[in-house]
Amino acid sequence: MNVLIIGGGVIGLAAARELRLAGAGRVTVLEKGQAGREASWAAAGMLAPDAETETVDAMYRLCRGSNELYPEFAASLFDETGIEIELDRTGTICVALSDEDLEHLGGRMGAQKTAGINAELLSSNDIAGLEPSLSRDVVGGVLYPDNGQVENRKLVAALLEFARRNSIEVHENSTADELVIWNAKAVGVSVKGKSLEADAVVIAAGAWQSELLDKANVRCPPVTPVKGQVIAYERVSSLRHVVYGAGGYLVPRRDGRLLVGATVEDAGFNTDVTVDGVLSLRNSAERLLPGLAGREPDDKWAGLRPFVAGGEPVIGAVPGVSGLFVAAGHYRNGILLAPVTARLIADAVLKGSAPEIGRPFLPASGKEATAS
Ligand code: GLY
Repeated sequence: MNVLIIGGGVIGLAAARELRLAGAGRVTVLEKGQAGREASWAAAGMLAPDAETETVDAMYRLCRGSNELYPEFAASLFDETGIEIELDRTGTICVALSDEDLEHLGGRMGAQKTAGINAELLSSNDIAGLEPSLSRDVVGGVLYPDNGQVENRKLVAALLEFARRNSIEVHENSTADELVIWNAKAVGVSVKGKSLEADAVVIAAGAWQSELLDKANVRCPPVTPVKGQVIAYERVSSLRHVVYGAGGYLVPRRDGRLLVGATVEDAGFNTDVTVDGVLSLRNSAERLLPGLAGREPDDKWAGLRPFVAGGEPVIGAVPGVSGLFVAAGHYRNGILLAPVTARLIADAVLKGSAPEIGRPFLPASGKEATAS
């Protein structure tokens, strides 16, 4: 089976790897720019299914399932490529800076624990013991021991190295201009007037997902960009856990960088870093870590989250067009959901099957997708 993947971010690259491991013949990735340099690069790499959920629903189960795949995914990638993606399971702490916030976190945690989520209530003393550099204004919080982070840029590097070592062709600066559908079957794409044939086409194009599908009159839920700005400080070695507070999150990297994210903005495809965006991130960082007060961030950037109405991804075979698959709308969870999405795509493409965990996210399940 000859598979063409449109989009060289972590979703497309992880799907390419899984397809290769599961025995696909030729696997080719087309990337309009540089592979892994859009949302996959801009992300902070948090793996936070528990810390970010309000309820135990299908989306939570998908996120948790993918989080559980990460240790094996990271270990296999290391064996396959020699690249360590810095999977970190130290735990994630949500902190409260007011009694009202603490009441909210505690109430949410009660419901989460009842639903089987691993979480521990922390007093201000507990938090001071775990993270002494956090503000004394922290009145308490919740620890999610099974959550953590991964170095998403190293994940990109590892997936590209896997591709290089395993005959997956990754064509950069290669925009698919048209999806070719013949007799209700996707048969390839055209790139600069040249056609590339395939038995299956997987569209995993992040915020740009809808361009090709719209042009081919394939109706899938529209994907729109949601901008996120991130700042980073060098040499901040005081924090061990990922920390969420009102207004933002702090992600300490192994190399001493501290990432602070992220804004959530409707700004089309604009990725400018703005004075207001940086200021809001600096304020939330300084409130949580007073040691940063007055420090200029050392780096700043912005990326585009791919958003589908409802905030949940759409993964699987497109009804009405055989050989066409989508992996879309991963929004805030692209890094977290890469391993499970890759498996779901490989199952869909190679076996025509849809495991239980992915069924609520099929294009057909209430998320209309038809060829017209
Ligand atoms: N995953 C966190 C964010 O999108 O800001």
